[in-house]
Amino acid sequence: MDERKVRSLSQAKATFYEPGFDELLRSSLATGRLRFSTSMADAAGSEVHFICVGTPQKHGEYAADLRFVQAAAESLLRVLEPGDVVVGKSTVPVGTAAGLATMFGEKVPGSSVAWNPEFLREGFAVRDTLYPDRLVYGVSEGDERVVGILDEVYARIVARGTPKVVTDHATAEMVKTAANSFLATKISFINAMAELCEATGADVKQLADAIGYDDRIGRKFLNAGLGFGGGCLPKDIRAFMARAGELGADQALTFLREVDNINMRRRIRMVELAREVCDGSLLGKRIAVLGAAFKPDSDDIRDSPALNVAAQLQLQGAVVRVTDPAAVENGRRLFPQLDYADTPEEAADRADAVLVLTEWKQYRQLDPVDFGRVVAQRRVLDGRNALDRDAWTAAGWSYRALGRRAG
Ligand code: UGA
Repeated sequence: MDERKVRSLSQAKATFYEPGFDELLRSSLATGRLRFSTSMADAAGSEVHFICVGTPQKHGEYAADLRFVQAAAESLLRVLEPGDVVVGKSTVPVGTAAGLATMFGEKVPGSSVAWNPEFLREGFAVRDTLYPDRLVYGVSEGDERVVGILDEVYARIVARGTPKVVTDHATAEMVKTAANSFLATKISFINAMAELCEATGADVKQLADAIGYDDRIGRKFLNAGLGFGGGCLPKDIRAFMARAGELGADQALTFLREVDNINMRRRIRMVELAREVCDGSLLGKRIAVLGAAFKPDSDDIRDSPALNVAAQLQLQGAVVRVTDPAAVENGRRLFPQLDYADTPEEAADRADAVLVLTEWKQYRQLDPVDFGRVVAQRRVLDGRNALDRDAWTAAGWSYRALGRRAG
């Protein structure tokens, strides 16, 4: 639909930051087997049609907004032929695929619908797509033909022996939301432990290491800090709760409300911690925020905890300067009221406190001695437990982090 994006992609230029993606785009375009178009007519003659559009949170509600999925499905009706397969990739409320299958079945008899969620992470999108840890095909009962077609689409991945789950539409849809809910719960669990660590003087990082050695628990996704943001985890747990409510099963997911609460409390705590280190008042204090993206190796600022904290600090009277290796331009567009800088040194010039809110490698590798020369006060708040505390304190910085003792 978006002429600008289609033009840019046709010239092998991604419209977002994703490591390795431009090269992949270039080599794929060079084969002549990849084309971009704004015209649905160009989809005529294809046998497999993927729907990959977004399903954002509805304004003022928890539920997912399915407008884009519906529009894509309707426009496909113009080109769909008997025997064609429509494959859904979008994250949708359970029941959506069955609804689409009925619609396509009535209007184009002989066509099929499969639900085939993806599990890629931003920042690792290329690797996660080409080397997924599992494939999930949600198909109508006994639809072996569609399974065969998907096996052809994913021939290389299947040949590698990648685990494959062939199931019904509802299970496939739920696999995606269940996976994201589990990940969100794991992060909020460790952040709840961080709250207790703050109350007791215990250390959440060591706690995570120690429980993570148990391979039933695992260390991954136990990084305590500012919590989860982005275009997926927050809206997916909310849409899941909304759908459970519609199905009369809301009790099953009330714990996700607490997961959401714990997550949001971390942002408030970060602002409080900043106030604390700035001698109890944020008014007129110069604060450097390192990181705007919701996670490193991405320029995505949707529901970014870093920008959320930056905006709160600014509203409370601090003079906030934000920097990020990739997301400054996007930040400027969404939060024009904040001040932006190209480098950490520029952002931290004469700062009263430095907050590291997205754990980009560039920030983890900062030399605390050199960096200490540009600030007014050597106070660092490590919002992602990503810095070497000993190195920073040895360089004369006062070090604070979520879930860890002051250093
Ligand atoms: C997430 C899932 O990880 C993917 O599997 C899924 O495909 C994707 O959503 C999606 O639904 O499309 P993504 O949003 O790219 O991927 O990012 P994550 O790596 O999951 O990180 C999400 C947030 O959690 C980030 O803000 C990150 O900083 C935070 N996080 C992650 C933590 O606070 N602690 C951790 O230990 C891990």
